[in-house]
Amino acid sequence: MIDETGNGILFVCLGNICRSPTVEAVARAEFAHAGLDVPVASCGTGDWHVGEGADPRALQAAAVAGYDLSSHRARQLTVEDFGRYELVLGMDRSNMADLQGLCPPGLRGRLGLFLEVAAAAPPAELPDPWRGGVAGFGRVLTLAQRGVAGLMRHLRERDGRGQ
Ligand code: 4NP
Repeated sequence: MIDETGNGILFVCLGNICRSPTVEAVARAEFAHAGLDVPVASCGTGDWHVGEGADPRALQAAAVAGYDLSSHRARQLTVEDFGRYELVLGMDRSNMADLQGLCPPGLRGRLGLFLEVAAAAPPAELPDPWRGGVAGFGRVLTLAQRGVAGLMRHLRERDGRGQ
């Protein structure tokens, strides 16, 4: 039996070492700065990096922008996560397909594409930087900041608190 009292936001990517930990760290810092009391977490659909820290390139890009990813440890999505969080946000459409496949049907309303929910498009997807160069990680950081700003607007509007 899954406890379905969702609270907080779960960011989901593939490996949980690049994109979703970056978005989690940006969201945690910016929510705290704005006084928004919403718990955040991240995980990956894959298990290759479970227990590992963030990718050194993600750590570096975050540090340059003033965010600390050093305490991050990768974990894999579980089916219980869909009940635990009120929003489960994938980074790209491949993550979304995986989430749609794993999510209990009654909880699919909690799923969303991060940059789409944030109304931060274009682009709608946060592209996987893992096989690319350092520049891709800078782009992830910039899009994470833009997306988190949009997500804060979305949460305030949803909760009827305007801007
Ligand atoms: P992430 O990046 O999903 O943003 O954490 C990736 C990290 C590792 C792999 C793929 C994407 N991998 O295939 O191991």
